[in-house]
Formats: sequence, C-alpha cells, structure tokens
Amino acid sequence: MGFSRNIIITGGAGFIGSHVVRLFVNRYPGYRIVNVDKLTYAGNLANLKDIEGKPNYVFEKADICDFDAMLAIIRKYNADGIIHLAAESHVDRSIRDPFSFAGTNVMGTLSLLQAAMTAWEPLGWKISHTPGAAPVPCLFYHISTDEVYGALELTCPEGKKSGISGGMAYGDRLFTEETAYRPHSPYSASKAASDHFVRAFHDTYGMPVIVTNCSNNYGPYQFPEKLIPLFINNIRYGRPLPVYGNGENVRDWLYVEDHARAIDMIFHRGRPAETYNIGGFNEWKNIDLVRLLIRVVDRKLGRSEGCSDSLITFVPDRKGHDVRYAIDSRKLRRELGWTPSLQFEEGLEKTVDWYLSNQEWMDNVTSGDYMKYYEEMYNL
Ligand code: NAD
Ligand code: TYD
Repeated sequence: MGFSRNIIITGGAGFIGSHVVRLFVNRYPGYRIVNVDKLTYAGNLANLKDIEGKPNYVFEKADICDFDAMLAIIRKYNADGIIHLAAESHVDRSIRDPFSFAGTNVMGTLSLLQAAMTAWEPLGWKISHTPGAAPVPCLFYHISTDEVYGALELTCPEGKKSGISGGMAYGDRLFTEETAYRPHSPYSASKAASDHFVRAFHDTYGMPVIVTNCSNNYGPYQFPEKLIPLFINNIRYGRPLPVYGNGENVRDWLYVEDHARAIDMIFHRGRPAETYNIGGFNEWKNIDLVRLLIRVVDRKLGRSEGCSDSLITFVPDRKGHDVRYAIDSRKLRRELGWTPSLQFEEGLEKTVDWYLSNQEWMDNVTSGDYMKYYEEMYNL
C-alpha cells in the first residue's frame, strides 16, 4: 500500500512518544509511522501493545546518535517528517550523569538534524510519494521543554486566581515564546543546546523546523522515576513519599494526551520556523499535589481519608531545584485553537485509575535495575 506521508517519531517507546505514536497511527491510517527508539531504561514496547500489529506502524530499534543509521532510516522510508522526542528526560539523572544528557540530547539531536539535511536538502526540502501528486514539504519538529527558560519567581506564595485560566497562579510572570533561555540543570541545558541546533539548521541551511516547549506532562505509561507515577506506586505500597526541600516548588501540569493533540495540530498546521509554548495554565505546589494524590489513591483503594498522610517525608532538596515553571500557551490557542481537554482533578483520577489497574506494567518497569537506582537515589 502506498502511504501519503512517512513520518519518523523518535522516542516513540517512551512516555509522551508512545501517546504521539498511538494518536498518529490510529488517526492517520494513510500515513506510515516509523517509531525510532533505542529502548533505554525509559523505552518500553509494552507501551504500544495495542497498535503494534497495525499495517501503518513500523518499529526501528536505533540510536539517534548513530548518524549512518539515522540517514539509512530516513532514506529507507522516504520520510518527509520527523517528530523528535528521543531524549534523556529526568533532571535527577542529569545531575548524577550530565555526560549522557549531552550525548543523547545534544549530539543525538545534531546527528538526526545532519541526517535529515543530507537526505532532504538535495531534494529541495520536499518529498514525492506518489507520481503525479504534489510533493510533501519536509518538517523537522523538535519537542522541547519549558525548563529551558529557567525558573520563575514565586511572587505569590499563597497563590492567586489566574487572570487567564481562573486556576491558581503563584507568580506574576509566565514563560512566553519570547522569554530568554536560562537553563539551570544539566537536563535543561542539554535541551536548550538542542533547541539552538534545531534553529541553527533553519537559519543556516533553510531546514523547515518547528520547536515546541511544553510544561510537565502526566498520565499513563510515565516511567516511575517522575513525581506522579512514583508517588502513586509508593502510596499503594505504603512506602515513604520523598518530597524535595519544603515542597513549595511549583509546576504547571498537562495531561499527556492533550500534549499529543497539540503536537498533531502543530505538525499539520503550525507555521515553520515558529516556536509554540504548550501548557495547561495549571500550577500546583508539589506539596498540594502530593496531598491531592494521597486523597485520590487512598479513596480508590478503599482506605480511610488521610491514612497515607504520614508517608510524606521531606528530604534534602534537589541541587539547583527550579522554584516555579508556568507556561503562557495563548499563542497556540490563538493560532490553532488548541485548549486542554481535561481539568487537572479529572486527569489525575484517570491517571490513578490507569496505574492501579496496570500493576503488571508497573511491576515490569520496576524490576531489573530500577530498585538499585531507587535505593541509591533516595536512601530511604
Ligand atoms: P522518556 O524518558 O519517557 O522517553 C524517552 C524515550 O527516548 C525512550 O523511549 C528512550 O528509549 C528513547 N531514547 C533515549 N535515548 C535515545 C537514543 N539515543 N536514541 C533513540 N532513542 C532514545 O521521555 P518523555 O517524558 O516521554 O519525554 C519525551 C520528550 O519530551 C523529551 O524530549 C523531553 O525532553 C520532552 N518533554 C518532556 C516533558 C515531560 O513532562 N515528560 C515535558 C516537556 C517536554
Ligand atoms: P519531576 O517529575 O522529576 O519533573 P521535573 O523535575 O522535570 O519538573 O519532578 C516534579 C517536581 O517534583 C519537581 O519540583 C521535583 C519534585 N520531586 C520531589 O519532590 N520528589 C521526587 O521524588 C521527585 C521525583 C520529584
């Protein structure tokens, strides 16, 4: 069967990538979706069990740092689009091992860019799939994070109603697409460097690119080193909940399927060379989020209210812990009409339901080296 588009999604076996792959495979049967993933500790093909047999889905196990492999895959599938999510993604790991973050996030992105340029530039950045039909313009779509902007001040520690969403805001400023980059962690520094390379390939070689910077995602299939799945699992087993510092740090949370929908809209209708911020206008202090999570998990497990509160354990702060992230996503709303579909409480209920009814998934990803990491990391 001929496909109207061939799209490579890197990091498709990870948390966000698996939702993007699923959305594209199901929504666009006329596209071939090629999932390119090295399957690190964070990559798991079980995240894609429901779509692995679909005729428009292919998996290629490969490392984005391997330029020859990337060029061969782009050429093999005659890819016209690349949605690039593959990365090392966890701040705590970046503090312990910054080299692997520079390797994957900076050099890996550069090798993918160079491969795309080698394949696409001689074709004038357009790919022909069907004889007689108009060629498809190429696009390198890079998925980045709000963490590249650094940290915002906590000017309203008690929180106030946001003038934009009606939700809570803990400061007066938000990250916009014009905010200067000021990354603090090795993770955010490596993502910032990769964003700069992507834009440099546009400015220098004319590569059609889009960069999006999204806030913290949550939902099914997130590796349990990140706050929400880690804490759901710990509450379930009555293990301590290690809250860094005083728990006053603020994050802006977005349900992962809303991010995937935004990526779909931007891939198809976003303006090349533009940046779009994606966020939920949904700021939460870590400690308030943890208390809400305890209430939801305890209720779903039929436990009495408050019975897991004593699991909260304040531990030494993360080094360089960014105080507050909050995204202004009005450009995306204005230009493409995207809005988050779920209220946070609703998304969290769905998320808790998913983790509690997919214990086998959790047991599989927490076997092997995971407990070693956990014990070294938290010393609990
Ligand atoms: P994740 O850690 O769950 O998944 C990363 C995936 O990339 C895994 O499948 C892994 O196997 C793969 N990978 C890692 N190194 C690779 C390599 N060298 N070659 C090929 N594949 C490799 O990450 P995630 O949370 O799904 O994040 C995906 C992207 O979205 C990242 O670029 C991240 O920076 C960005 N992002 C994440 C969040 C968030 O809250 N999780 C928010 C904004 C942006
Ligand atoms: P995380 O999920 O690691 O995402 P990020 O660091 O990219 O924002 O952490 C979310 C917030 O929760 C962050 O402020 C750090 C905090 N946190 C804890 O307090 N304890 C934990 O065990 C973890 C993993 C995170």
